Amino acid sequence: MEVTSPGTDTIPSDGAEATVIRDTYLGLPAIRKTRVPKGYRAEAFDLKIRTERLRMEVRLLREARRAGIHTPFVFDVDEVSCSLVMERVPGRTLTDLFTDPEVPAEDVRQRVHDLGRTLGKLHSGGISHGDLTGSNVVWTGSEIAFLDLSMGSRTPELEDFGIDLHLVEEDFNTLLPDADAAFEEFLRGYQEGCTKDAKRNILRAREIKGRVRYS
Ligand SMILES: Nc1ncnc2c1ncn2[C@@H]1O[C@H](COP(=O)(O)OP(=O)(O)O)[C@@H](O)[C@H]1O
Ligand SMILES: [Mg+2]
Repeated sequence: MEVTSPGTDTIPSDGAEATVIRDTYLGLPAIRKTRVPKGYRAEAFDLKIRTERLRMEVRLLREARRAGIHTPFVFDVDEVSCSLVMERVPGRTLTDLFTDPEVPAEDVRQRVHDLGRTLGKLHSGGISHGDLTGSNVVWTGSEIAFLDLSMGSRTPELEDFGIDLHLVEEDFNTLLPDADAAFEEFLRGYQEGCTKDAKRNILRAREIKGRVRYS
């Protein structure tokens, strides 16, 4: 993560991999995301990892959009600097909303439900997200948008779907006071959005939770 310093337009990010900066592209509000070299990795290997993640992010942003999910439109990609410039999605991240005491509980409940429905749609479209935390989801005011898909897969296995659901549950535990009720609401939305194998995926998430707990 790049630490924000006052006066710059760097956005704090959870990943240690990228710097994320507010920018413009042909006058449009944009975000520039650059995967910076990591000194602890051998140089060639480091470049390979950064390039692969950049490519995967670009590919999955497009694929997810084809599956009917709102994702930022990619304006430009530069493999030399490992950066991409994409549309800046207006709105607030779910982490931001869920930790704001001013946001009414009913709004939180609806967003949680929407998140479930949107993930269900992504999974029915045969894509896993790979890093589904609240800071990788934006509420635009009318719909959920997904960001940061570089850890996702276009050929997911049951385990990948289960991990997506499990990560959401873990994230709720850190963000929401009544995380159990929120996760139930999320799963109701998920089953609406996921037209294929929703029950099977939920069962796998339970199994993963058990494994994590007893490992
Ligand atoms: N296209 C975008 N539109 C709006 N905000 C964005 C966009 N991309 C990133 N952000 C903001 O920047 C933060 C970090 O970006 P992200 O792609 O998640 O990077 P990282 O891989 O470092 O987590 C997000 O949590 C979000 O607040
Ligand atoms: Mg992120």
